[in-house]
Amino acid sequence: MSHESVALVTGASRGIGRAIALRLAEQHRVIGAARDEQALQALVADIEQRGGRAEAMALDVADPAQVAARLEGHAVDVLVHNAGVGTMKPLLDLTPAEWQRMMDVNVNALFHVTRALLPGMVARGRGHIVIIGSIAGRSAFVGGAGYATTKHAVMGFAENLMLEVRDAGVKVSVVSPGSVATDFSGRAEPRASAQLLADDVAAAVMSVVNTPPEVLMHRVEVRILSPKRPRGTE
Ligand SMILES: NC(=O)c1ccc[n+]([C@@H]2O[C@H](COP(=O)([O-])OP(=O)(O)OC[C@H]3O[C@@H](n4cnc5c(N)ncnc54)[C@H](OP(=O)(O)O)[C@@H]3O)[C@@H](O)[C@H]2O)c1
Repeated sequence: MSHESVALVTGASRGIGRAIALRLAEQHRVIGAARDEQALQALVADIEQRGGRAEAMALDVADPAQVAARLEGHAVDVLVHNAGVGTMKPLLDLTPAEWQRMMDVNVNALFHVTRALLPGMVARGRGHIVIIGSIAGRSAFVGGAGYATTKHAVMGFAENLMLEVRDAGVKVSVVSPGSVATDFSGRAEPRASAQLLADDVAAAVMSVVNTPPEVLMHRVEVRILSPKRPRGTE
């Protein structure tokens, strides 16, 4: 009996999620989920060109009804919760809508998407849920009252869920990157300090997913070795 492993990546339309989808496609059939369907179609084309299999799923993870409807009936082996938004502002500059959006996409979506796919994993006695956290999930910074709060919540969610489902054969991991060169939080210009590349995070996800069946890598932090040294000069 051959089983084709399926990986679903949220926020696969660009940035870190796209890089993760490309790497996972070397070993799994990939479902790339995000709102930008055109970008997802381009991802699918890239994966197919490399000989992999993929499909695009238009999905707003912040819409619980849509999540339940679109994910119903999907058997997923590796679920990567990557979709995220960040508005870095002091608390009094954050609007209620900005606060709510970060809570909805970064935290509430974890509940809704997990709720849709976890029962199948438990029934099959295997599965891996990987959540993209952040160093902001354990460090505070000025402007992080909204974003870093959501990423702290991610750490709590992951550890509690891990304890809950480990005996059912389901793994839960968090991969927490430092600063990554993407368009996250509407950055207009590249940073002066060296940053990770999206593919560095994707490589870490692959390490976490490819541990022996009985081994769980629960938390991984990925940092640039030295923010002072531009990439390629080390
Ligand atoms: N960049 C960094 O420095 C950094 C550092 C640490 C952790 N992270 C984390 O890494 C993850 C990815 O960030 P990134 O840097 O790759 O950001 P990005 O380039 O802005 O990509 C964000 C992704 O999330 C998706 N997304 C946003 N809202 C969504 C929604 N409502 N429903 C479905 N998908 C949604 C976007 O797709 P659509 O717009 O097409 O929906 C996009 O694919 C986030 O969780 C972020 O917190 C980033």
